[in-house]
Amino acid sequence: MPKRNQPSARRSQSSGRWLNRQRRDRFAKAAQRQGRVSRAHFKLAQIDQRFKLLKTDHWVLELGAAPGGWTAYLSEKVNAGRIIAVDPLPIAVGGARVEAVAGRFGDAAVERRLQEMLQESPKPKPLDLVLSDMAPNISGVRAADQAAAMALAELAVEAAAKWLAPRGALLVKLMQGEGFDAWISAAKLAFKQVNVVKPAASRPESREAYAVARGFGIGL
Ligand SMILES: C[S@@+](CC[C@H](N)C(=O)[O-])C[C@H]1O[C@@H](n2cnc3c(N)ncnc32)[C@H](O)[C@@H]1O
Repeated sequence: MPKRNQPSARRSQSSGRWLNRQRRDRFAKAAQRQGRVSRAHFKLAQIDQRFKLLKTDHWVLELGAAPGGWTAYLSEKVNAGRIIAVDPLPIAVGGARVEAVAGRFGDAAVERRLQEMLQESPKPKPLDLVLSDMAPNISGVRAADQAAAMALAELAVEAAAKWLAPRGALLVKLMQGEGFDAWISAAKLAFKQVNVVKPAASRPESREAYAVARGFGIGL
């Protein structure tokens, strides 16, 4: 039997807390009732309801897509466009419009593959929307976790700078803390409008928030 202060005991306590929270959580319950891949579905649905980010013919790059809650939402909305979904973990969503790329964005091979995919199309065009819900593995060391989360948000900006169409939009998960304000200030230089939102489905105790940056390269 693990003792209270041993890592395995701590792990099982924290997974017990997670399970209890899931049972109480109305979005987790709704996700289960509606057969959604994950409760994250509701975060994107709530953001999209407010900002109207998606159109049926949009070309979308989704970074940090597994297990596929957002991908499923995207494939409901995008019926004539393209959804390129990237994650090293399996994405449990298929569909005619979804092209999954297994790997870590930031790795040169993944970027080359994305570049090829965008150029190989019979009618290549830049992206309408880049989304990132990428999150690092949490170490428990707050400063290191914050830096890792903001480094992923920087990668999302790099993707936008490379492939986003003029007037395109970027939706990125951020962590409130060191680097957050600087990220927003930099985004305001590249986009016409930047809003920070905390959708109702985002757990109140989490430091996560989402930046919605619209109007890439307009009025700068
Ligand atoms: C919060 S989950 C995303 C949940 C997803 N939006 C959904 O609705 O199911 C964060 C994901 O980011 C992925 N991730 C972390 N670093 C990444 C990277 N460099 N490139 C791609 N995915 C990454 C993780 O593997 C993880 O699956």
